[in-house]
Amino acid sequence: MSILLSIIYLIATITFIVGLKKLGHPETAKNGNLIAAAGMVLAIVGTIFINDLEVPTFIYILIGIAILVGSIIGWLIAIKVEMTKMPELVSLFNGFGGASAALIGLVEISKDVDDTMKVATIISGIIIGGITFSGSLIAWGKLNGSLKSVIKIPQYNIINNLFFIGVLALSIFMIITGANSQLLIYAVLVAGLVYGILFVLPIGGADMPVVISLLNSLTGIAAAITGILYGNMAMIVGGILVGSAGIILTIAMCEAMNRTLSSVIFGTFGGGAVAVAGVNKTLGSIKNTNASDAAIMMNYATNVIIVPGYGLAVAQAQHVIHELEELLTEKGVNVKYAVHPVAGRMPGHMNVLLAESNVDYGLLIEMDTINPQFKNADVVLVVGANDVVNPAAHNDPSSPIYGMPILDVENAKHIIVNKRSMNAGYAGIENELFYNSKTSMLFGDAKAALTDLVAELKNM
Ligand code: TAP
Repeated sequence: MSILLSIIYLIATITFIVGLKKLGHPETAKNGNLIAAAGMVLAIVGTIFINDLEVPTFIYILIGIAILVGSIIGWLIAIKVEMTKMPELVSLFNGFGGASAALIGLVEISKDVDDTMKVATIISGIIIGGITFSGSLIAWGKLNGSLKSVIKIPQYNIINNLFFIGVLALSIFMIITGANSQLLIYAVLVAGLVYGILFVLPIGGADMPVVISLLNSLTGIAAAITGILYGNMAMIVGGILVGSAGIILTIAMCEAMNRTLSSVIFGTFGGGAVAVAGVNKTLGSIKNTNASDAAIMMNYATNVIIVPGYGLAVAQAQHVIHELEELLTEKGVNVKYAVHPVAGRMPGHMNVLLAESNVDYGLLIEMDTINPQFKNADVVLVVGANDVVNPAAHNDPSSPIYGMPILDVENAKHIIVNKRSMNAGYAGIENELFYNSKTSMLFGDAKAALTDLVAELKNM
């Protein structure tokens, strides 16, 4: 490798690390993304033009066309995607990363490799790439609602794990004996693809974010394996960064949802119970409120905590909620936002959404810090959040979210919940908070309801 290419890879590697660091804060995230993307462009250009690929010009033209078409499609999709659909897009992109790793493995193994380490690397790439590809497509289908069924075969998990052990055994046999006929290679690929489907298909309820993050991490590992194959430092470091960041995120989300990582990988995922919307005989009845009464309550409060959830993103009400917060602050009310780690539909969803409307980042308080403060809150305004404030996580051992840390809004003096109906949230379960004697329901689309609230407050 030329010195120039080594320098380019070093620069690209530094941009990945700096970019990742900057992604840790909403204010710097956009720049971080651009820096890492610029490094990636540099690495790609260097690989194609400085590396001697020893291929005819025709292949360069094909590579150029592929990059152009891929970039245009990727750019168009990314520009058009709504924030609420971002996890689906991430899942799809993960899948493409896995498919690339598996395809590279197929190409490389066809070159009569006899080095055992290389065969092991290629086979790992094919299996992990295959699992990531099919698993991500299933996750994509589940997230966009086209795949709903959750498999309920008895002992499904044991069958699943036995299948995985079978795939491992076949791979080890191939590596040790050097038996890598086309038939066996394709058998390994198909086994990886099938396992990806078996792995993700039974996942239901609120567990999907964990699996998306795990698949994201697998994509990174597949990329790192490909990097080892080609001795490409930028690919190895980039892959390891994605792999380890994905694992850290997976562990953080497991903690936020009270799951262990081993139960995610080898255990059964929880499925959401069926929603029972409307008046609930055991929980009692609900109390309605309107914008005018809610505004009076907030106007005379000393401490108000706003709890944003998925509905805020759906309604695109981030700007009007910021206006409400500013208005209350002008009136001398102490306002904070309580941010649950899995509120919304992707990690950091609420942080990104509120940063978009220039909410002061210091006002976004994480769950562990804000929970003890709810008892001092005169009013908690819950906007489009449901599962993350559901006390069943504390009180109901039969609930699929039992044990999940939640925002303890029920400790506040008054609770106003804004949503459109009594429909359930993502986990599909009833929420007893809505029936609490301290809770008033402010029904309506979040944007319309908050706009009314702002108008009422302005008149006071
Ligand atoms: P959810 O529990 O999904 O509840 C959102 C609520 O918003 C719904 O009950 C819905 O009720 C309401 N809503 C929808 N559109 C609205 C609108 N236009 N205006 C007002 N309200 C609206 O949300 P959450 O509390 O944020 O919890 C997140 C859930 O998603 C958790 O279960 C979490 O595990 C899961 N999840 C999270 C992630 C990540 S990583 N954040 C990824 C995937 C899944 P109505 O229909 O009655 O309005």
